[in-house]
Amino acid sequence: MNQIEKEISRRRTFAIISHPDAGKTTLTEKFLLYGGAINLAGSVKGKATARHAVSDWMEIEKERGISVTSSVLQFEYDGYCINILDTPGHQDFSEDTYRTLMAADSAVMVIDGAKGVEPQTRKLFKVCVMRKIPIFTFINKMDRDANDSFDLLDEIEKELGIATCPINWPIGSGKEFKGVYERASGNVLTFSDTEKGTKEGKASVIPLDDGDALKAEIGEQALEKLNEEIELLDGASAEYDLKEIQAGNLTPVFFGSALTNFGVEVFLQHFLKMTQAPLPRMSDEGLIEPAQREFSAFVFKIQANMNKAHRDRVAFMRICSGKYDAQMEVKHVQGGKVMRLSQPQQIMADSRKILDEAYAGDIIGVFDPGIFSIGDTLCAPREEFHYAGIPTFAPEHFARVRQLDTMKRKQFVKGITQIAQEGAIQIFKELDSGMEEIIVGVVGVLQFDVLKYRLENEYNVDIRLEPLPYEHIRWIENENPDLNKLVGTSDMKKVTDLRERPLLLFVNPWSVQMVLDRNEGLILSEFGR
Ligand code: G4P
Repeated sequence: MNQIEKEISRRRTFAIISHPDAGKTTLTEKFLLYGGAINLAGSVKGKATARHAVSDWMEIEKERGISVTSSVLQFEYDGYCINILDTPGHQDFSEDTYRTLMAADSAVMVIDGAKGVEPQTRKLFKVCVMRKIPIFTFINKMDRDANDSFDLLDEIEKELGIATCPINWPIGSGKEFKGVYERASGNVLTFSDTEKGTKEGKASVIPLDDGDALKAEIGEQALEKLNEEIELLDGASAEYDLKEIQAGNLTPVFFGSALTNFGVEVFLQHFLKMTQAPLPRMSDEGLIEPAQREFSAFVFKIQANMNKAHRDRVAFMRICSGKYDAQMEVKHVQGGKVMRLSQPQQIMADSRKILDEAYAGDIIGVFDPGIFSIGDTLCAPREEFHYAGIPTFAPEHFARVRQLDTMKRKQFVKGITQIAQEGAIQIFKELDSGMEEIIVGVVGVLQFDVLKYRLENEYNVDIRLEPLPYEHIRWIENENPDLNKLVGTSDMKKVTDLRERPLLLFVNPWSVQMVLDRNEGLILSEFGR
């Protein structure tokens, strides 16, 4: 193995997903703690500072106390170089989250043991299934009263449609939480409430066959129940099958408590063995193998004004093959230009460090003078291929944008176009109206507020948003369609997108079908490719 292959093979890049408050931040802190990236968990993100430390670039986040942006963390553990993609959990702001998942090779799903599968988990999970991203489940907060463990597995299987395979099994929960039984080794790890935020207080290990020692430690009743449950489990749950896990058809399940540090390191160790090094990615030249090609990457996220003082815009890219070093020239395929990336950096929780080199699997942020769009490919100067695009999610909320001061037309158009390029919103024009009438479509309604806020603060433009009743969007796939001939319905609107492609907005799904029925040969698509 040469040095590049070695570096790539030790990389693991995953997204961490959960419903807000399930414990994603806490679990991430503990990972960092084990990786030695911080001395005391909590010094990275104490709750009070947590959500702001990562991204205090936008006042709106502070006002609402939620994290609208994603961040990336890198740390070393046991010879591995691990990249965690944090995903914003707020259910209103999901498109960014979806894109982040596109940059990951696997996902860790954190579930609150007392709450089970929650709406946000369900949504994110569907994206993982769509992309066949392997999912690792961590059922958290076992130190609090939790739902019955079998019920939790059942819920995951039914609600998310994936088979489960528990790697360990909890002994009680809440005050009665005694530890977990590790199925592969046949050992019981007993729970000791560790000092918050430290690595100390290691759990003791007792083999299941050592009945006396176990009885003394966890009590007769708990031991009896455990033995019964193990029997049930062996009969009922899916068998451990690494291939199925890696294919995204089976999720290994771990029980633990991030807050008290119980089961976190064990989870990390198992997880690292089960996940794969950076996977090949599809392009119009076929699969690109990470270790066999020169540098290539794709842009999955663009974030503006992370630093107010500098009014900058950062493009986040996932390196898909080869090695990147700061001196090298790369080709931006969509822009047709060979260039040097400007100020490549790794964005840490609350700081950035300029980097000299990075490898497939890593995420880098580069200064973007306004040339990159989501989904763009970068590769070696003499190569030219495109990575498969990131699908845009169909907006479900629409509003007409009214500009209050018509003298600021230029700033308005510039601002709204740039924000649309970043992928935070999609903009549409009324047919034959130029930029006079702009309709904006978003996946979550919070994006409307973000748009208004950013236009006011960054571009000095005041707007008014008038909600429109449309909820369904369809692109017209036919070549050169004659829109004047199209027989529509009374509640339908004809518009074009930024790239002048024609599309239709509908209030309800029946109208979509009606228009299809009335126009033979019409092809409509839910995605703007
Ligand atoms: P999130 O990123 O998924 O939104 O969740 P976060 O880690 O911020 O955790 C949400 C709350 O749940 C926090 O409590 C956190 O301490 C608590 N928590 C996380 N893991 C566990 C666990 O294993 N057991 C128990 N009992 N609690 C857990 P908080 O009161 O909102 O904040 P804090 O003041 O305690 O930090």
